[in-house]
Amino acid sequence: MNDHAAPAALDVDGLSVRYGRSITALTNLSLRVSAGEVVTLMGLNGAGKSTLSRAVTGLLPGQGGAVTGGRIASFGTEITRRSSRAIVRHGVAQALEGRRIFGAMSVVENLDMGAATVRRPQLRENRERMLELFPRLAERRDQAAGLLSGGEQQMLAVARAMMSSPRLLILDEPTLGLSPKLVTFVRDTIRAIRETGTSVLLIEQNATMALSVADRGYVIEHGRIVHEDDADGLRADEGLHRLLLGLGAEAAA
Ligand SMILES: Nc1ncnc2c1ncn2[C@@H]1O[C@H](COP(=O)(O)OP(=O)(O)O)[C@@H](O)[C@H]1O
Ligand SMILES: [Mg+2]
Repeated sequence: MNDHAAPAALDVDGLSVRYGRSITALTNLSLRVSAGEVVTLMGLNGAGKSTLSRAVTGLLPGQGGAVTGGRIASFGTEITRRSSRAIVRHGVAQALEGRRIFGAMSVVENLDMGAATVRRPQLRENRERMLELFPRLAERRDQAAGLLSGGEQQMLAVARAMMSSPRLLILDEPTLGLSPKLVTFVRDTIRAIRETGTSVLLIEQNATMALSVADRGYVIEHGRIVHEDDADGLRADEGLHRLLLGLGAEAAA
């Protein structure tokens, strides 16, 4: 898995990000996802997790943010400051925090929205693949997405991101607000995605869940990486569990 000779799915090197003139959200942050790896980025609210995800996927300008230093490369190509569309084309897709599905549109229409950058035959193939991977969505394919349960909407957001045939998938807190049963479901979904060969950057506050699927992980605090280890090392790290507080107590059990 850790073939450091091959270009990484994601290579973030010394990245700094600011919002406006005064808010520094990331400082000299470096992080790597090797091809085929699932890597987790964990940290409390406000630590800078979504900012990193936006920086990688080209969504900072829409939020008043900018990369002020460092570089981002994916599969050997520099993508720093590229447009979000160019980055999707390059093979990097993101399922946004908070789901953001289109409630009035059907499940299938939502899926197709994720495929703006792929050709028609590929779109149909990807759609069938996603409906196979997520039978619950297949059962509800023509239903308005707004009528899905929270867990199913989350699943739809992940499946929609997969519609662009990404080589790297970024998930921003996919278990936020879900019941334990649905958290397990999301975990199994990530395992299934990994089996397809897609590399994953999993942003999470739920350390138990994240470390049950990830190969390695990073901990972010106030916009800086404060810890990096393989999943076993992070699971054994009491400081991490204290940092992640309530979630950590559960993780340590
Ligand atoms: N659009 C924005 N404008 C100004 N500040 C922002 C914006 N988005 C996030 N921030 C600030 O950047 C920091 C990191 O936020 P964020 O990346 O959303 O953290 P996380 O996803 O870890 O909760 C926080 O201090 C937050 O208030
Ligand atoms: Mg966030």
